[in-house]
Amino acid sequence: MYKVVFGAALLDYCKGEFAEHLRTSTSISDEEVLPVSYLFRSYEEMPFLEQRALNMAHGKILDVGCGAGSHSLWLQNKGYQLKAIDISKGAVEVCKKRGIQHVEQIALMHETGTFDTILLLMNGTGIFETLEKAPLCLDYLKSLISDGGQILIDSSDIKYMYEDEDGGLWIDVNAGYYGELDYFLSYKGNSELPMKWLYLDFAMLRELCIKVGLHCEKVADGPHYDYLARLTLAKNQTDNLLRQGIEFPEPGN
Ligand SMILES: C[S@@+](CC[C@H](N)C(=O)[O-])C[C@H]1O[C@@H](n2cnc3c(N)ncnc32)[C@H](O)[C@@H]1O
Repeated sequence: MYKVVFGAALLDYCKGEFAEHLRTSTSISDEEVLPVSYLFRSYEEMPFLEQRALNMAHGKILDVGCGAGSHSLWLQNKGYQLKAIDISKGAVEVCKKRGIQHVEQIALMHETGTFDTILLLMNGTGIFETLEKAPLCLDYLKSLISDGGQILIDSSDIKYMYEDEDGGLWIDVNAGYYGELDYFLSYKGNSELPMKWLYLDFAMLRELCIKVGLHCEKVADGPHYDYLARLTLAKNQTDNLLRQGIEFPEPGN
């Protein structure tokens, strides 16, 4: 999943060979085009939430689901000690070709190091796949951060995708969480196996974080229902009370 076709597209682009666009669709949306060049974006071409995350990074960094390594490359050039990981063989090959020194083809749940900053960008919660698996992944991420470490992750509240022309919502409340999608990807007529891809609204991410003992704060909102969040080890009294089920509103949310 998210391995062969995606990796082939990145490799073609990296080698300068003719590359078509990637085609994506989901269980609730029609086909869209994703230019492969977007995966090779420079700092200037990145959305400001990603730029913000890069500027907040410190210490020893892990880039999870690094893709073509655009974030890793910028951080490496800034002199940070960095490790990039991805499940896609092609993506890892591309990262090596682009000069990323420490890159490994492994899944998040097989990483065992300790890091001061963990980045999950371009809908970082997608890697959790389903709402059910999200707490396990968050708990695992928690085990990988140092004392004083942080996880920087972006996602979107995709409720707007369920809006009809009159502004009404057609979310089926019996169908599970609305941010859980089936994701389809194809390139040059070849299709990746459909995969689960999770979008989390901020309130849900915060709720899941509290359950696993992570403090979750919103760093900034993006222009289109997207946001960047910073997760740290829960230490203060409010976090512990929240964990016991005593609710406090998050300021500004
Ligand atoms: C949407 S792409 C984002 C790539 C990159 N972060 C960027 O912003 O350009 C998601 C990446 O996550 C990788 N991926 C998916 N599941 C993963 C997992 N469990 N562990 C590590 N990488 C994963 C995919 O192979 C893909 O390269």
